[in-house]
Amino acid sequence: MGFRLTTRGLTAAAVLLTVVVVGIGVALAATSTPQFCALCKSHVPYVEEYKKSAHSDVNCEQCHSKPGPFFFLTAKLEALQQPIAQITGDYEKPILGYVLNQSCRRCHNNDLLFHPVSKNGIRVQHKHLIEAGFLCMRCHSTQAHGTAVPEGSRTYPSMDQCLICHNNEYRAPDGQVATSRCDLCHTLRDYGAVPATHKEPDWPTRHGAVGILSTCSACHIKKDACSKCHNGILMPHPTAWISKHGLTVDERGDSKACDQCHDTKQYCRTCHQVRMPHPADWIPAHPVVTAQKGAETCFNCHVLANCQACHEQHQSGEPRAHKLLGGVKYSLPPTPAPTSSPISGGG
Ligand code: HEC
Ligand code: HEC
Ligand code: HEC
Ligand code: HEC
Ligand code: HEC
Ligand code: HEC
Ligand code: HEC
Ligand code: HEC
Ligand code: HEC
Ligand code: HEC
Ligand code: HEC
Repeated sequence: MGFRLTTRGLTAAAVLLTVVVVGIGVALAATSTPQFCALCKSHVPYVEEYKKSAHSDVNCEQCHSKPGPFFFLTAKLEALQQPIAQITGDYEKPILGYVLNQSCRRCHNNDLLFHPVSKNGIRVQHKHLIEAGFLCMRCHSTQAHGTAVPEGSRTYPSMDQCLICHNNEYRAPDGQVATSRCDLCHTLRDYGAVPATHKEPDWPTRHGAVGILSTCSACHIKKDACSKCHNGILMPHPTAWISKHGLTVDERGDSKACDQCHDTKQYCRTCHQVRMPHPADWIPAHPVVTAQKGAETCFNCHVLANCQACHEQHQSGEPRAHKLLGGVKYSLPPTPAPTSSPISGGG
C-alpha cells in the first residue's frame, strides 16, 4: 500500500474531517428548524398553530425526539423517510402524535412540577400524578398545536382526571389519601356544585356507562348515595367483589337485583358454566367437566399457568390433558415459557 503519514496528508485529512463534521452539523441544524418541518404539506397546520402557542420558541425536536444524542440521530433517520411518505401519500391520516413525558420534562422538571402551581383558577400538584405514571398528553395534548390536533385526541386538564384519585379513597404510595375538598384545587369560586356531565339528558340512566365510576365518591359520600336506586347493591362494586358477589346473591336468595344492569342469563354464564365454588371432589371430577364444557370455560377465570402448576409435572407421555389444552385459544397474559420448551411468538 502506498499510504504514508506525512504532515501534509494529516493536515488535508484534518481539514476534510472538519468540513464533514461541520457539514453534518449544519445539515442537522438546518433540518431542525420549524421552517424545514413546514416543508411537509401535512405539517403546515401544525406549524401554524405552533407559532401561536406558548411553545413557539421551542424547537420541534425538543418534543418530538427522546432526550439524548443517540435518540436525536435515530429520530433524524426516521424523519428521512418523511419526504418520501409525503410524496407517495403513504402516511396515516389523521396523523397522530405521541410525545413522551421525558421530552416534556427536559424543561418542565421536578423543581417546577413537584410544587403546587395555580393557573386559570385551578391549583395543581403534579407530583403524585407523575409518579403514578400519568402521561402529560392525557391533559396537555394541545400545548403546541392547539386545534390542529385532531378532535379525538385533543385533551385539556379536566376534573375527571383529577378525581380518579381525589375521591377520598385513593392512597398514594407515601400513604397520603387524596381528598376532594373543592377548594384544594379551585382557587376561584366560579364553579357550580354539579358537574357538567350531570346535565346531559341521558345522565339519569347512562351515568354508569359514561361516567368514570371511581370519581363518583369524590362528591357522593353518603353510604347509600348510589345503592338507594340500585337495590342496595354497592356501586361501583367494591374491590373484593369477585369473591364476595356470590355471598350477596346467596343472602338474597336470587339474582334479581343484578338484572338492573346485567343480562343475568348471558353475563353470569361467561364465568358460571362450572359450579362455584368448585365442589369438594373437584380434582377427580374436573377432567369430565372439562371434556363436557370445553377448556375455554376454565379460562374465563384461570390462566394456563394455573393448570400447568399440576399438569406440567407430566409433560412426557402425551396425556390427553395436553391435547385438550393445546387446542385452546386463549388471550390471557402469556405464561413464562418452561425452560425445557422455549415458546416463541404467541403474544
Ligand atoms: C411542546 C412540545 C411540542 C413541540 C415544541 C412541537 N410539537 Fe408537534 N406535537 C406535540 C404533541 C403533544 C403532539 C400530539 C398531539 C396529538 O395528541 O395528536 C404533536 C403532534 C405533531 C404532529 C402530528 C403527529 C406526528 O407525529 O406526525 C406533527 C406533524 C407535529 N407535531 C409537528 C411538529 C412540528 C413541525 C413542530 C415544530 C414546528 C412541532 N411539532 C413542535 C408536541 C410538540
Ligand atoms: C424546550 C423546553 C420545553 C419543552 C420540551 C416543553 N416545554 Fe412547555 N413550556 C416551555 C416554555 C419556555 C413555556 C413558556 C413558559 C412561560 O411562559 O412561563 C412552556 C409553557 C408550558 C405550559 C403553560 C402554557 C401556557 O399557556 O402558559 C404548559 C402546560 C406546558 N408548557 C406543557 C408542556 C408539555 C405537556 C410538554 C411536552 C409535550 C412541554 N411543555 C414541553 C418549555 C418547554
Ligand atoms: C391529570 C391532568 C394533568 C396531567 C397528566 C399533567 N398536567 Fe400539567 N397541568 C394540569 C393542570 C390542571 C394545570 C393548571 C391549570 C391549567 O393550566 O389550565 C397544569 C399546568 C401545567 C403547567 C403550567 C404551569 C405554570 O406554572 O404555568 C405546566 C408547565 C405543566 N402543567 C406541565 C405538565 C407536564 C410536563 C406534564 C407531564 C409530566 C403534565 N403537566 C401533566 C393538569 C395536568
Ligand atoms: C395519581 C393520583 C392523583 C391524581 C391523578 C391527581 N392527584 Fe392531586 N394529589 C394526590 C395526592 C395523593 C395528594 C396528597 C394528598 C392531598 O393533599 O389530598 C395530592 C395533592 C394535591 C394538591 C395539594 C398539594 C399541596 O401540597 O397542597 C393539589 C392542589 C392537587 N393534588 C391537585 C390536583 C389536580 C388539580 C389534579 C388534576 C389535574 C390532581 N391533583 C390529580 C394524588 C393525585
Ligand atoms: C383535585 C382537584 C379538584 C377538586 C378536589 C375539585 N375540582 Fe372541580 N375541577 C377541577 C379541574 C381541573 C376542573 C377543570 C377546570 C376547567 O375546566 O377549566 C374542574 C372543574 C369543575 C367544574 C366545571 C367543569 C365540570 O366538569 O363540570 C365544576 C362544576 C366543579 N369543578 C365542581 C367541583 C366541586 C363542587 C368540587 C368539590 C366537591 C370540586 N370541583 C373539586 C379540579 C378539582
Ligand atoms: C336516582 C336514582 C339513581 C341514583 C342515585 C344512582 N343511579 Fe345508577 N342508575 C339508575 C338508573 C335508572 C340506571 C339505568 C338502569 C337501566 O339500564 O335500566 C342506572 C344505571 C347505572 C349503572 C349501569 C350503567 C350501564 O349501562 O351499565 C351503573 C354502573 C350505575 N348506575 C352506577 C351508579 C353510581 C356509581 C351511582 C352513585 C354515584 C348511581 N348509579 C346512583 C339510577 C340511579
Ligand atoms: C363534583 C361533584 C360530583 C361528582 C364528581 C359526581 N356527582 Fe353526581 N351529583 C352531584 C350533585 C351535587 C348532585 C345533585 C344533588 C343531589 O341530588 O344529591 C348529583 C346528583 C347525581 C345523581 C342524581 C341523584 C338523585 O338522587 O336524583 C346521580 C344519578 C349522580 N349524581 C351520579 C353520579 C355518578 C355516577 C358519578 C360518577 C361517575 C357522579 N355522580 C359524580 C355531584 C357530583
Ligand atoms: C368474572 C367472572 C364471574 C362473573 C361474570 C360472575 N361470577 Fe359469580 N363467581 C365467580 C367466582 C370466581 C366465584 C367464586 C368466588 C370464590 O369462591 O372466591 C363466584 C361465585 C358465585 C356464587 C357463589 C357460589 C355459588 O355458585 O353459589 C354465586 C351465587 C355467583 N357467583 C353468582 C353470580 C351471578 C348471579 C352472576 C351474574 C350477575 C355472576 N356470579 C357473575 C366469578 C364470576
Ligand atoms: C347498577 C348496575 C349494576 C348492578 C345492579 C350490578 N352490577 Fe355487576 N357490574 C356492573 C358494572 C358496570 C360492571 C363492570 C364494572 C367494572 O368494569 O369495574 C359490573 C361487573 C360485575 C362483575 C365482574 C367483576 C370483575 O371484577 O370482573 C361481577 C361478577 C358482577 N358485576 C356481579 C354482579 C352481581 C352478582 C350483581 C347482583 C347481586 C350485580 N353485579 C349487580 C354493574 C352492576
Ligand atoms: C368462575 C371462575 C372459575 C371457573 C369458570 C373455573 N374455575 Fe377453577 N378455580 C376457580 C377459583 C376461584 C379457584 C380457587 C378456589 C380455591 O382457592 O378454593 C379454582 C381452583 C381450581 C383448581 C384447584 C383446586 C384445588 O383444590 O387446588 C382446579 C384444578 C381448577 N380450578 C380447575 C378448573 C377447571 C378444569 C375448570 C374448567 C372446567 C375451572 N377450574 C373453571 C375459579 C374458576
Ligand atoms: C391441583 C392440581 C391440578 C390442577 C391445578 C389442574 N389439574 Fe387437571 N388433572 C389433575 C389430576 C391429578 C388429573 C388426573 C385426574 C384423574 O385421572 O383422576 C388431571 C386430569 C386432567 C384432565 C384429563 C386428562 C386425561 O388424561 O384424562 C384434563 C382435561 C385436565 N386435567 C384439565 C385441566 C385444566 C383445563 C386445568 C386448569 C384449568 C387443570 N386441569 C388444572 C390435576 C390438576
